[in-house]
Amino acid sequence: MKERKKVSNSVVKRLPRYYRFLGEIKNSGMIRISSGELSRRMGLTASQIRQDLNNFGDFGQQGYGYNITDLHNEIGKILGVENKKKTILIGAGNLGNAIAAHMSFEKRGFDLIGIFDSNPSLTGKFIRGLKVKPVSQLDDFCGKEKPEVAVLCLPYEAAEKLVNKLYEAGIKNYWNFSHFDIKKLYPDSAVENVHLSDSLLMLGFHSNENL
Ligand code: NAI
Repeated sequence: MKERKKVSNSVVKRLPRYYRFLGEIKNSGMIRISSGELSRRMGLTASQIRQDLNNFGDFGQQGYGYNITDLHNEIGKILGVENKKKTILIGAGNLGNAIAAHMSFEKRGFDLIGIFDSNPSLTGKFIRGLKVKPVSQLDDFCGKEKPEVAVLCLPYEAAEKLVNKLYEAGIKNYWNFSHFDIKKLYPDSAVENVHLSDSLLMLGFHSNENL
């Protein structure tokens, strides 16, 4: 692989789609795909795909196209799926429960090792084979297990109060559903803010265009 140069966020945003798409066609039994066919199927231009992938290495071969398994594996490495990162989830309410129970963390490079909540009626409950722990055990747990990633399924105010503790415990990567701006407080952290409502509003925009 080429030495990594600074890659634009718009390219990074397309990588999961490449990874998912290549995984699907790999599972369908295809071995290779031409750049033209890949671009047709993905709705991107061949030059866009070439430019995106050139940020990371020389993957295609003139006259052959791409070996699907190799490209899938390479993009997986770029996305870090092989490097299982110890992950905790905080807030086991409606959203946290759904995410903990249904998200394939392992396939994407995350190892969910702990779930925490402050509500005593939820502690002791099993989700995905993990017993929900009281948030009072967070310090001890982080000291022993040294998780690298936290999934925050908490209200804004709770996240605001807790992030400092998590950051001090060495957690610098956040999948953040809480709407609290972690990056502003800790610029060196990696934060992926999820706003499902943005996606819904995008639907509103596109449905307006159809009126
Ligand atoms: P919920 O009330 O069902 O769950 C929140 C959980 O957080 C509760 O179990 C509560 O006991 C726990 N909690 C509160 N403070 C805590 C603390 N300091 N330490 C540990 N646990 C604590 O709410 P729901 O529906 O699961 O939503 C959670 C949050 O996610 C809400 O604030 C909501 O605004 C936000 N949300 C964000 C979405 C997004 O797209 N980013 C989508 C849906 C909800």
